[in-house]
Amino acid sequence: MNVLITGGAGYIGSHVAKRLLESTEFELTIIDNLSNGSLKSLEVLKTIRDFEFIELDLCEKKRVEMVLKDHKIDAIIHLGASVEVLESIKNPLKYYTNNTINTINLIESALSAKVEKFLFSSSAIVYEDREDFPPEGMDEEYPLNPLSPYGASKLMSEQVLVDVAKAHPSFKYVIFRYFNVAGADINYEDNRLRPRIGQSSKNATHLIKIASECATKKREKLEIYGDDFPTDDGTGVRDYIHVDDVADAHIKALEYLKTKNSDIFNLGYGEGYSVKSVVEVFKNMASREIKVDIVPRRCGDPAKLVANSKKIRDKMGWIPKYDNLELICKSAYEWEKLNGE
Ligand SMILES: NC(=O)c1ccc[n+]([C@@H]2O[C@H](COP(=O)([O-])OP(=O)(O)OC[C@H]3O[C@@H](n4cnc5c(N)ncnc54)[C@H](O)[C@@H]3O)[C@@H](O)[C@H]2O)c1
Repeated sequence: MNVLITGGAGYIGSHVAKRLLESTEFELTIIDNLSNGSLKSLEVLKTIRDFEFIELDLCEKKRVEMVLKDHKIDAIIHLGASVEVLESIKNPLKYYTNNTINTINLIESALSAKVEKFLFSSSAIVYEDREDFPPEGMDEEYPLNPLSPYGASKLMSEQVLVDVAKAHPSFKYVIFRYFNVAGADINYEDNRLRPRIGQSSKNATHLIKIASECATKKREKLEIYGDDFPTDDGTGVRDYIHVDDVADAHIKALEYLKTKNSDIFNLGYGEGYSVKSVVEVFKNMASREIKVDIVPRRCGDPAKLVANSKKIRDKMGWIPKYDNLELICKSAYEWEKLNGE
């Protein structure tokens, strides 16, 4: 199978590429405009197995279509996107253009190039923020109502995929609604955890990335956005999922689509942790205080996002390997130490 990953130089994309190179014989092509990607990660990936990297912006529709045709692509894993909730509130057009319009263009190119499998990274942020949170977590039928243009840009893309697949029966998709992806490459050398790739983006707003920067003294303090949410300790609760488990789900989905129909799957563990409890893990791990400022809530941040992941476990047979908050944090922390400045 010939697989194209968009956004493959990014955080999650590089881990999906790593798994694909390590555990399959599929030919891989990556396109990325490097707006938030890492050439260093691509170099590491090349040491696993060769693949083609094309520096290309998804807005260049004709060139993207040529890549699909020239490389006889069978499956697209579409991760290339703009990813910051707050930025999307300030600059919604960037998100509707880069995330929704570019996804529509990619789907159109896929149809034209007869690519029949399409995996799409959506987000748990498409769900409604409700106080009557179900104890078993949000399943895929949970009400949809994104609070930010980022979430809306993802939900619109989902809708386009669903409708296009109805009109073109040979075109099949898997939509993944990721919960909070975190951690770095689980790789041991001399019995020590030594991630080869991780989250490199400079201005990441993800809690575990920021806590790793504080724990390694690259950042002075961590801001907690709100301690008055209706949760046990008042801080936001999230379902943190290790990036290698996310990557594995993509490999499973490629197999799944060979015989099964299009579907939407949550990708989380079903365990929620508060911001304060994540900070505690880092304090203990680094044996140092982490300076914390409590600041007002941000627009677009729901109180609680925890997956009900029964569907992916039952239908795809996905079994997570790293559903352990300490290990997730430790891998991010070790990556941050190795990643230098
Ligand atoms: N990180 C999370 O917790 C999370 C949660 C839900 C969904 N997602 C989704 O997962 C995907 C990957 O996220 P990430 O955290 O790895 O972010 P990232 O920024 O590290 O990766 C995105 C990659 O896409 C590339 N890119 C962006 N716009 C492009 C364009 N127009 N053309 C070509 N390349 C482009 C960037 O350079 C970057 O390498 C995104 O679609 C994001 O919405 C992430």
